[in-house]
Amino acid sequence: MTGLDPVHRDFFAGGAGEERTLRANEDAWARRRIIPRVLRGTGPRDLRTTLLGTDLSMPVLIAPTAFHSLAHPDGEVATATAAAAAGTAMIVSMAATRPIEQIAATGATLWFQLYPQPDLTFQDALLERVTKAGVKALVVTVDSPVFSHGRRDLRTGFTDLPPGLACENMRDDTGVVRDITMDDTLSWAHLDRLRAGTGLPVVLKGILHPADALLAVEHGADAVIVSNHGGRQLDGAIATLDALPAVLAAAGGRIPVLIDGGIRTGTDILVALALGAKAVAVGRPVIWGLAGGGAHGVQEKLETLRAQLDHSLALAGAQRPADLSPDLIA
Ligand code: FNR
Repeated sequence: MTGLDPVHRDFFAGGAGEERTLRANEDAWARRRIIPRVLRGTGPRDLRTTLLGTDLSMPVLIAPTAFHSLAHPDGEVATATAAAAAGTAMIVSMAATRPIEQIAATGATLWFQLYPQPDLTFQDALLERVTKAGVKALVVTVDSPVFSHGRRDLRTGFTDLPPGLACENMRDDTGVVRDITMDDTLSWAHLDRLRAGTGLPVVLKGILHPADALLAVEHGADAVIVSNHGGRQLDGAIATLDALPAVLAAAGGRIPVLIDGGIRTGTDILVALALGAKAVAVGRPVIWGLAGGGAHGVQEKLETLRAQLDHSLALAGAQRPADLSPDLIA
């Protein structure tokens, strides 16, 4: 991976604590086996899907990850350029290092990830700004009431962006870049306020417990993402794939359920879709593509996932994601 500072590589790759959850995410996909169907005469595959009014060329989104300019000088603009070329959506992290307007100028379909901020005046202004820039949904990350402890970062001494880079969407109306606050008083009441104040669909990211999936439905969330933040928050948290069935049962088909964490191949995506996820999101693979080759590198990564998913659908006897069902998974 050209040019990636080893300290930054550890920041991107690492997880919290002993990295048990980080490992568990990937291991969980590797444990599942597919029971393919044959002689279904499916013909060419069709991977397209629609999610919250967003048309996607495949059920794969770019998960929100911080600090893309550490991976490549073009930062989030490169990632969005690739998303546009691949016809999928990018979830822009609140800790993006490029202004949302520049990212949107690529023409990509964007969702914006928010850590709810205690300064509601600032938050309202931010939401107005990203809405004006054209983002199509808000992704509210709910698994981070406090900052994570990255063991590798403690070792390497990585704490923050180097001079010259900033979280550009945290600038207030005086031009000062605000720190992102993790708010340990966050509750469903905050979410209700947020929902009432935006016309955008609201997606809750970081749901693992079925009771929370039920509450998400009751509080009017438009979708949930089963996620443990790529093993970067609560070490020891359940692997996302292991949490998926109960969350799906609780959601009961009323809202789409997405999943991220350790998804690395087309067959991982097939497993998620067969169990009932409407789409998946990928985090680190996109960063490695970005570090290796900018927009082109990200696009290559996305096209590889697309080709793998297409191929495994064919081999499992499915034409489109909707043809898959849980009985195909052992
Ligand atoms: C993240 N993730 C994340 N999530 C979020 O809601 N806001 C953020 O700013 C970040 N930042 C971030 C940085 C880095 C370096 C990583 C690896 C992850 C979590 C991310 O959205 C997603 O949940 C995981 O990355 C999915 O797991 P994989 O695909 O990386 O295994």
